[in-house]
Amino acid sequence: MGYQYVLYEEVDHVAWVTVNREKALNAINADVLKELQEVFGAISQNQEIRVAVITGAGDKAFIAGADIAAMAQMTPDQAAAFCLLGHKTMSQIQDCRVPVIASVNGFCLGGGLELALSCDFIYASNKAKLGLPEVNLSLFPGFGGTQRLTQLVGPGRAKEIIFSARLLSAEEAREWGIVNKITAPEALKTEVAKTAQEIASKGPVAVSLAKRVINKGLAQTLDNGLKIERDHFTDCFRAEDLKEGLTAFLEKRRPRFQGR
Ligand code: CAA
Repeated sequence: MGYQYVLYEEVDHVAWVTVNREKALNAINADVLKELQEVFGAISQNQEIRVAVITGAGDKAFIAGADIAAMAQMTPDQAAAFCLLGHKTMSQIQDCRVPVIASVNGFCLGGGLELALSCDFIYASNKAKLGLPEVNLSLFPGFGGTQRLTQLVGPGRAKEIIFSARLLSAEEAREWGIVNKITAPEALKTEVAKTAQEIASKGPVAVSLAKRVINKGLAQTLDNGLKIERDHFTDCFRAEDLKEGLTAFLEKRRPRFQGR
């Protein structure tokens, strides 16, 4: 796969996706969004991939937000199209067949944090700064941040982050439940790879179904969520991997999952 703004690599069932606009701190323009859609579409189709990781090029930024220079030229209609493109891209990442880890290696601002919030969870370098500073520009988050951040941390904390435009340290973001784990900058890739490998070694069908059930259940009542769980629980029994998982346990050996 060759892209202008995205680097792509597959290592041991893990897809590494790097937004590569280092000079603009990996700011997201429409072309970046389109390429990310292509990449995550391809990852969802590729049965060899069990986990994806997204990060930013260089050691300064994950993604410093939507491209401010591009937005400065937009009419309201073009801004609506950009917002929709952003929403589709973030939803595609959220709905990706495999777990997606955001590896936040620096500034993670505006549309960058919104992208990270579309991932399944976030690991961050202790140097990272996270925030939704759009109101500094007389704008508010337009790639899903008003909704996803509120779901994750609750309306009080989401409103404080969005209204104040304050940047959180990695430590604060962990305390607020936005970041799962913090590492030294030089250890981030190794820690993310370790967790990615751990997940990749599990039954891929079950991991994908668990992701789907959790995401589908988010906007549901408990009863509806349990129905979704029941519907998909039985799907595990339709896959060959479950037989392998149960048999391997009983034979006291490691399972060899095929992803089907
Ligand atoms: N869009 C376009 N270019 C950006 C950018 C962005 N979001 N963020 C940084 N850049 C560019 C800068 O313009 C600069 O380019 P030049 O070298 O050509 O001047 C380069 O990246 C390096 O940035 P700085 O010189 O500003 O670096 P710094 O270390 O002084 O500051 C920073 C770093 C605090 C992250 C600062 O760059 C900054 O505040 N960036 C903007 C953050 C922001 O407001 N993000 C929200 C964008 S709006 C949005 O995301 C809308 C949405 O929800 C969809």
